[in-house]
Amino acid sequence: MGAKLKHFIESQQLNKPLIDSLFKTARSFDFNSEYDVLKGKIVALLFYEQSSRTSNSFKSAAQRLGAKIIGTENAKEFSSVAKGESLEDTIRVFGGFAHGIVLRHSEEGSAKRAAEVSRRPIINAGDGRGQHPTQALLDIYTIKQEIGRLDDFSIAFVGDLAYGRTVRSLCYLLGKFDGVDITFVSPENLRIGTDIKDYLTRHGVNFKESTKLDEVLPKADIVYVTRIQKERMAIEDYEKARGLYVINQKNLGLVRREARVMHPLPHVEEIDLPVKIEETDERIAYFRQAENGMYVRMALLSHMLR
Ligand code: NCD
Repeated sequence: MGAKLKHFIESQQLNKPLIDSLFKTARSFDFNSEYDVLKGKIVALLFYEQSSRTSNSFKSAAQRLGAKIIGTENAKEFSSVAKGESLEDTIRVFGGFAHGIVLRHSEEGSAKRAAEVSRRPIINAGDGRGQHPTQALLDIYTIKQEIGRLDDFSIAFVGDLAYGRTVRSLCYLLGKFDGVDITFVSPENLRIGTDIKDYLTRHGVNFKESTKLDEVLPKADIVYVTRIQKERMAIEDYEKARGLYVINQKNLGLVRREARVMHPLPHVEEIDLPVKIEETDERIAYFRQAENGMYVRMALLSHMLR
């Protein structure tokens, strides 16, 4: 097993032995069983930014392991925060209540700030446009489950690549594997950042940018679609970008039979498929991906808080 993680702030912290060990643990969990790995532990969820699936995925994961949960999904409206308390103070206080803290915040760098003052493990559940490392972990878990490998595959990222933190975290993680070929497809105003491009170059990952989704789809093993992060940009930027890249019944026909369409969810109009197709077409992997997230978070919580 890789070295134990004290805090989990960015996906680059993971290494292959740790990933293998977390995956092995994740695969051992069964939907209908109860576990007592974290019996007697308390997990705090502090969500300063809206979330439904990430918060409930963590809640379900923690409770399935026997832990109890405290915290709030509206941390911004906490009386202490409304009174002007700093993030650092809130973290110090919750360190006295819980064995670990899962934090979502709208500011990039907030999870790192929290970790600097926390005596308990901090798990970053999304810091603004920064990172969302547990999503990256569940994404590679899903890729492995679906296509059987994490080396030598091609992935197309489609959508908002400027503000989508899941893409950023996943790119950082893909830098650890060999033979990964990335194509970025995005509206002109939402292109992938130079920080990510520099990182990929430094790690020898092949990547290119394209505006032609129809040419990219037939070549991809994984099509990773993202929502335009409306809440993080000016309305003009959103209007300029929306609807430009959509997966629909017509272009789904270009995706190979053994390829998979993933999405961190929630999806809105960037996926325009009938429910029946979403339910029956093997290539649509995003609901399996969401469920995988719970097992992966169970593995991570067991690793960090046991
Ligand atoms: C993502 C996020 O919050 O970054 N959602 C999630 O955690 N599953 C993606 C999104 O909101 O578009």
